[in-house]
Parts: sequence; C-alpha cells; structure tokens
Amino acid sequence: MKSASSHNRLRARVLVPVVVVVAVYLLYSSYFGTTTTDNSNPPYTLYADLNQKEEEAGQKFLESLQLIETQKNPKFVLFRQHEGADFGNQAQEILLHHHLALLSSRFYIYQPLYWKPRNEQLPLSAFLLGATEERAVPASFVEKLCAKGSDDVVHIKIQSSREDLWDTALSALKRKESCVIVDNPIIDTAYLSSPSADAIWPLFQKYLSRWFRWSPQVLDIVERTQTQLNLRRQFSSLQGEPYIAVHLHRKAFLDVCETAAQRNSGLVNWANLPAIQSTMLPPRLDSRNASSVMEHCNPSLLRVMEAIDRQVRRKPYLRTIHIVHDGVSSKDLWKLEHALRNPERAQRAGWTYGPIKSVSHSGMVPHEPEETDFLVGVDVELARRAEVFIGNGYSTLSSYIIALRMGGDLVSTGITEDISLL
Ligand SMILES: *[C@@H]1O[C@H](CO)[C@@H](O)[C@H](O)[C@H]1NC(C)=O
Repeated sequence: MKSASSHNRLRARVLVPVVVVVAVYLLYSSYFGTTTTDNSNPPYTLYADLNQKEEEAGQKFLESLQLIETQKNPKFVLFRQHEGADFGNQAQEILLHHHLALLSSRFYIYQPLYWKPRNEQLPLSAFLLGATEERAVPASFVEKLCAKGSDDVVHIKIQSSREDLWDTALSALKRKESCVIVDNPIIDTAYLSSPSADAIWPLFQKYLSRWFRWSPQVLDIVERTQTQLNLRRQFSSLQGEPYIAVHLHRKAFLDVCETAAQRNSGLVNWANLPAIQSTMLPPRLDSRNASSVMEHCNPSLLRVMEAIDRQVRRKPYLRTIHIVHDGVSSKDLWKLEHALRNPERAQRAGWTYGPIKSVSHSGMVPHEPEETDFLVGVDVELARRAEVFIGNGYSTLSSYIIALRMGGDLVSTGITEDISLL
C-alpha cells in the first residue's frame, strides 16, 4: 500500500508538470502554428504527379487544337513575371497575365509557382486552376511552341505610361507571330494602385468570376476548416455560423508601414477602387501625413475593435470572428479575443445580442503537416467567403482578398458595405 501511494505521489509529481508543460505548449503552438513557421513535409509526390498531369493535359490540348479548323494557327504568349514575389502578388500577376492572354486571343503559357518560403518552383495547378485549364499550356512546352530563331517567334518589351499600359499591352499582343514572349514584367503595384487600374477593373472582375478557381488541395482544407470551426460560407444554407473575417499582420509589417509613411504612399492595388476606398474607417487617410499612414497601415487594437463594432452594429447576428494572420503574437490575439468576448464592452459598444461567441484564427486551421504550403490560399479563401471582411488597405493580400470577393462567384459581388478597411 505504502509503496503504491508513494508511487502515485511520484507519478503526480512528475506527471502534473508534464501535463502543464504540454498544455502550455499546445496553447502556444495553436497561436504560433502559422503558415510561416511550419514548413515540414512538403508533398513532393503530389507535386510530381501534378507536374505530370499538367504535361499530359498540355499535350492533349495541343493535339485537340489540330482538329479544330478555326484553331489551325493557334497563337501563344509567355509573360515575364516579377521575381521573388510572395503568393498574393504572384497569384494576382498570373491572373492578370491570363486575362491579357484571353483578351488578345492567345493561349497562355503558364509558369510554375515560385514558392518563396523554400525558394522552389511548384506546379501552378497545386494552387490555382483557372490559369492552367483549357486555353493554357505549361511552360515546359515553350521550346516546342516558340522555337528559337523561328520567324514566328517574337520577343517584345512593353513600355508605356500607366494610363496607356493596358491598351499598349493589348495592341502589342495583336501581331501576326504565333508566339510572343514578353521580356519585361509589365504589371506592378504602382500600376494597380493608380487610377488607371479603375479602367481595367470591370473586365477583370468578369474575368475573375469566369476563371478564378482554387485547386482541390486548397478547397479541401477550406471545407474541413469551415466544418470544424463552424464557419458558414456567405449566402450558403449550410450549417455553421456566419462570420466576420479580420486580416491582421504580424509585427514585421511595421517596416512596410514605416516605408509607406516616409514615402507618403497611398493604399495598394484594388483597395484604391473608389468604392473600396470609401469603406475606410474614419478619419480619412492623408498620405502626406505620416501619422495618418501609420494609423491605417498599422492599426491599433482599438481601431480594429472599432471596425468590428461598426459591422456588428450593422449586422447584430454576426457572433463569430475568424482572424486571418501571418503570425500575430499570441499576446495580441489574446487581447483581441478578450475584448471581443467581454459582455460589458459589447453592451457599451451597442451589440444587440451580446459579445462574440466564437473566435478562431489561422493558427487553428486543421491540416496535416504536408498541407502547409496550401494554408495561405486557405486564409485568402476563408476571408473571401466571410460575410464581412475587415482588411488593411496597405496590404497586398487584403487587396487581393477584396478583388476576389468582388469578382468571384459569390453573390456578394459588389456589396461594399460588407467590407471595411482599417
Ligand atoms: C495627421 O494624422 C493624425 C492621425 O490621423 C492626426 O491626428 C493629425 O491631426 C494629422 N495632422 C495633420 C497636420 O493633419
């Protein structure tokens, strides 16, 4: 008896601290386990399969062209992409290139996705489908389609003022040669942030609703997350709670903001569309005023709460929040969650049905270690499907989310009231 009880005591003395350490670790890792820190086990077998499938689909597509009389002289275009871009910027560039190719009746030669976290090339179809399906062939065919030295191949550079860039690109692509290789990157943030982008938006919006599609890998995790975290897709009748998605950046984004403040930069990309700019939480942005830039680019917790307050007062049934982030500190997440769940605060802020019931975030997306590469796409899609989106007008990822919300297959297309810029 005695030895058994001392054994138990010993067990308690060893086990309790172990349990506490594990619990603290799990709590920590659920906050820190984000897209940027966990890069184990990339699915190389899947990637090899997808490369092979892209190749086969490309081959089949080219063979089918031979059979169609009107496509006897197919035309192609290969664009130069910016090097080293992160996922959001790259995806956006690819979509705009594909759009240009379609508008100029050329088939799009797509390139692998450059995966910044590991400095690798991954098959594009593992992430985005639209630009790899139909009317497109992988870059591995480029030598075959655009044989070096052939008269039917032309290298061009597209240079123009921002105002004329799009039209210049379109007319440059309307030439007789069957293969055009564009040697300079043409679309950048400065262009997409300029008033000239307003002019291309209506058509790009249509492009997105017709051609934008995630890969099954991304969608699979999205569906799983919606089920497990009980998040209901906007306007769907499936189970789950309608939710607000809030996009927050980690501390490192401060550098971006400080540079923007020094250079008096305005908002980025589609956040500049007049309808989107007008969703900004007051006071108005004055980009000549560095404090004003910092206020919008690096919003305080109070400001984030104010944006949520406004949306909850508008739509009091929203009781669920999903925070999309790239590694916000556990302390900041905790503070936000604490404020959201505080009943007195909710009452003061005029929330009819009391505080937020459920708070989830990117670190809680259920996934296998080999699915880590897809999580940034999952973040974007979860924010796109949210009933309300609160984003940062200085973030290209927020801007990309807004474009996809406005342009995608959702009924929300055009409902700018459901968007707030911080
Ligand atoms: C600059 O912006 C800050 C933050 O919005 C504001 O408090 C301040 O009054 C502005 N300064 C001027 C000169 O407008």
